[in-house]
Amino acid sequence: MGFRDYLQKLEKSHKLQKISASVSKHLEASGILKAIEPKAVLFEKIKESNFKVAGNVFPTKDSIADYVGCETSELISTINKAISNMKAPEETKNAKCQEVVEEIVDLDKLPILFHCAHDGGNYISSGIVVSKDKEFGQNLDFHRMMQIGKNKFSVRIVKERNFDTFLKKNGEMDIAVCIGNGANVLVAAATSIEIGKNELGIANALEPLTVTRAKTSDLLIPSDCEFVIEGRIVLEEKANEGPFVDLTETLDVVRQEPVLTVKKITHRKDAIWQALLPGALEHKVLMGMPREPTIFKKVNEAGVKCIDVNVNPGGCSWLHAIVKIDKQNEDDGKKAIDAAFEGHKSCKHIFIVDKDIDIYNPLDVEWAMATRFQADVDFKMKAREKGSSLDPSADPETHFTTKCGLDCTASLQVKGKNFSKEPFPQVDLKKYLK
Ligand SMILES: Cc1cc2nc3c(=O)[nH]c(=O)nc-3n(C[C@H](O)[C@H](O)[C@H](O)COP(=O)(O)O)c2cc1C
Repeated sequence: MGFRDYLQKLEKSHKLQKISASVSKHLEASGILKAIEPKAVLFEKIKESNFKVAGNVFPTKDSIADYVGCETSELISTINKAISNMKAPEETKNAKCQEVVEEIVDLDKLPILFHCAHDGGNYISSGIVVSKDKEFGQNLDFHRMMQIGKNKFSVRIVKERNFDTFLKKNGEMDIAVCIGNGANVLVAAATSIEIGKNELGIANALEPLTVTRAKTSDLLIPSDCEFVIEGRIVLEEKANEGPFVDLTETLDVVRQEPVLTVKKITHRKDAIWQALLPGALEHKVLMGMPREPTIFKKVNEAGVKCIDVNVNPGGCSWLHAIVKIDKQNEDDGKKAIDAAFEGHKSCKHIFIVDKDIDIYNPLDVEWAMATRFQADVDFKMKAREKGSSLDPSADPETHFTTKCGLDCTASLQVKGKNFSKEPFPQVDLKKYLK
């Protein structure tokens, strides 16, 4: 379907808010996106650019499920199936993303948003970086990029990501940054799979797509995206990146990060820029949701029957995971804690609950903790481990943090009070409220 066709689908079902008033890319579009979320927005007139901008396009699991054509409850199995059945996309020479080739590189002509007052600059936050290494082949990742001139960005690269490995190995490399993608490409880029596997195969298994050769390198890029920024990134050429309001809605620090020098920009005719508001729901769902299938898989592989996983927005859709299991043995909760950390290494707190708990209702999860959890036996601490670079309370240099798991499942043996909620009497309210 692609980004553009999905916008049309949203419009037909009256789920797209069009804004015809002129809106600035500087602190105005971002404010509107936040005020209106989770509704999708199309800005038809951006003050500083000739391109339209759309944002909040995939802010919920429902929207991603709608795009890939499954029920929301089937997302975990659909993504796991796509990871197991990766399929290389077919190549086309008829690439919509190359309909227009800009002769002069001028990033100021693009609607690169300035999101929050204390950010260090205009940021691309929806860009999918396609990179390639001789040994490992192609890789897809999200990397935020701060504009630092008419043709340069500083690029945030978290250590030990596949792209970090590629860049350290090669010193410098050609990359393509693809903007304006469907949920298949976005979700695939956000998954963490074995190095050496091209995530475009996951995207293609989720929803078929075609690829095309980039103009300045032999990279294969999604041919239906809206914009492609091609350039060369150099590990040792560094510039300030940040501050930046990140996933946790707190201000990330300024770091020295590698510089990308842009060689060419291509785009569709009437291309639509994809905005992705940092810290907002769409950022959260794209970060956290792709970790749910990996947690689900690891818990089941550990011999515990996992029913569902929620990497919930209250935990910044990254630092917390709530795991629902069908408990068969007393030690299932503890096993599930270890396995869930295997499935999401950046997670900080894991909550294991029984099958009667609604993991999308924080009150229900808290109820399980209040009624079924005893800290001296049901608590598992993993002191001083490497955690997420996003956690403001982790060590700022090493990212060491203390992780823990809470087994909030009921004991299989009832000693004293029961662990189940007793039902209230059922009544027909219509008989009483006239
Ligand atoms: C919206 C979004 C923005 C992200 N921004 C960055 C970033 O700026 N730098 C980074 O290293 N990872 C970022 N990530 C995380 C990586 O893209 C993600 O963890 C990826 O799955 C790692 O893939 P890898 O296993 O191929 O290294 C972002 C993820 C999302 C969904």
